[in-house]
Amino acid sequence: MTTKTSQQYIGKLAVLYQGQGDSLPFQQLAERLGVPLYQPLNNDSQEDFFLSWRDGCLKLLDTVGATGRSHLQKGGLAVDIEPRNGEQRSWPAPKDGALARALGRKTRTVVDATTGWGQDSLHIFRMGYDLLCIERSPVMAELLTDGFARLAQQDWMQRLNLEPPRLIQGNAIDLLADLEVQPDCIYLDPMFPPKRKKSALAKKSMMVLRDLLGDDQDKEQLFEAALNAAGKRVVVKSPDYAEPLGGKPSQSFQGKLLRYDVYLKG
Ligand SMILES: C[S@@+](CC[C@H](N)C(=O)[O-])C[C@H]1O[C@@H](n2cnc3c(N)ncnc32)[C@H](O)[C@@H]1O
Repeated sequence: MTTKTSQQYIGKLAVLYQGQGDSLPFQQLAERLGVPLYQPLNNDSQEDFFLSWRDGCLKLLDTVGATGRSHLQKGGLAVDIEPRNGEQRSWPAPKDGALARALGRKTRTVVDATTGWGQDSLHIFRMGYDLLCIERSPVMAELLTDGFARLAQQDWMQRLNLEPPRLIQGNAIDLLADLEVQPDCIYLDPMFPPKRKKSALAKKSMMVLRDLLGDDQDKEQLFEAALNAAGKRVVVKSPDYAEPLGGKPSQSFQGKLLRYDVYLKG
């Protein structure tokens, strides 16, 4: 993974070291992201988010909703590498369900241009597609790198001699134009504004992502870049209340409270 140092997290995010082993990886992480390292948590800190290794995972901890600025929410969020509920625990898992139908029967290679927490990417990977992941947020890219490294250590991955998906950190609007190999399918799941201010149904991980990164304002440009770069199709995941991102889709597949809009190339 290549990571650009970013100023965008100053005052919003810090790395937290609480005496858990070697502090060097924490220092290096803070340097890569250009954010402060606290050891331990400073009571006057202004940041809403902290990155720290806990229970063998890099975790994003938030203070949002906690009492007092420096009180961390319990638990924290890491990239979850376990199959989703109902997903078959074999590799490759059967290509069924709305996502597989949207990706298409003849698709072999997929670029997920909005990887986020990697949940769709990992589902796509477990179904056996050849996958490249792109994520523009350096923080999410760090969390994904940690998750993919944990994935590489899984028994089943090693038994089957599988490599985790490749990850590139950067803006997909630029990166898609320079892909070495044209993928069959480009998958997009940009952040749409919520229907209501705080949806009770929104997952905690997505609420945190929105608080950290905001909505993706340039999704129309991303769609155009994807349409230019894809070999056969672009798939856009949308909340069911949102208008289709690229106008009338060629096909649409309904999931639970969401839609996969498919744009086939001529
Ligand atoms: C709604 S989340 C994706 C969630 C993901 N599908 C999952 O299963 O966890 C959107 C993500 O896309 C990323 N993103 C949006 N526009 C992007 C772009 N132009 N290039 C790269 N990443 C982008 C955001 O930083 C954010 O992490």
